[in-house]
Amino acid sequence: MNIDGKQVAADLRQSLAQEVAELKQQTGITPGLTVVLVGEDPASQVYVRNKVKQTQEVGMISNEFRMAADTSEEALLAKLDELNNDPAVHGILVQLPLPKHINESRIIESIVPEKDVDGFHAMNSGRLMNGEEGALVPCTPQGCVILAKKHLGDDLSGKHAVVIGRSNIVGKPVAMLLLQESCTVTIAHSRTKDLPALCREADILVAAVGRPEMVKGDWIKPGATVIDVGINRIATEDSKSRLVGDVDFAEAEKVAAAITPVPGGVGPMTIACLLKNTIEAARRFGV
Ligand code: GUN
Repeated sequence: MNIDGKQVAADLRQSLAQEVAELKQQTGITPGLTVVLVGEDPASQVYVRNKVKQTQEVGMISNEFRMAADTSEEALLAKLDELNNDPAVHGILVQLPLPKHINESRIIESIVPEKDVDGFHAMNSGRLMNGEEGALVPCTPQGCVILAKKHLGDDLSGKHAVVIGRSNIVGKPVAMLLLQESCTVTIAHSRTKDLPALCREADILVAAVGRPEMVKGDWIKPGATVIDVGINRIATEDSKSRLVGDVDFAEAEKVAAAITPVPGGVGPMTIACLLKNTIEAARRFGV
């Protein structure tokens, strides 16, 4: 069966809209998210437009700052300093990737951890790693766990989860979240030996490598839950293009008990979880 991320995300946004209304009524606080976009990358512009739209739809305040591609690192740091000190801003997101002349990790670390709704700041990844309360957790990994639970129920304990990919944005944090759920977690990557055999051991398989349709049907244990984080655009014969995941969907859906499609799986969950983090930040630190 398909796990319908579009529907799960829509349901989540609906409950977030209710939370926003209650928070406003009870405390007078309206959660505010500010997105900073440097340069004109077309894919980033689409993402930012969707973020702004969905932020407004749940009743939150959305702000967007666009800065020229040749903006200096110092100018961006000055902008972030201003946002860090603005009490109406509860969440700050700097759209990645940044132009090459800007040091990405310096920018991420300059956002105060309490407003780092991407969950990329070392303080937040450290808190996640230590299993502490109060971490703002990266959005896509949160979405992956919500979707896995949609099929398996809330108790994931004892399941063998194999995560393919070790990025700071998805692979590592999703592994930490699954560990917190008491899964037995294996992190696989490009140097892993006999990846197909390892994947066949997985009750939960998370693919986050960015290689189109790499995971084949015979890599999947019958009855497994497959979470496909990949979003890859590939050329088709009619010289058009289409989006595919990291998993060969047509093969995998015959073997897996449940699988997230691309598009319409993990993708829509990311922004919904971003809104959730911003509400959380406003609730905790809002004035
Ligand atoms: N670019 C692609 N995905 C993301 C994300 O989750 N957060 C940010 N800030 N930039 C991105």
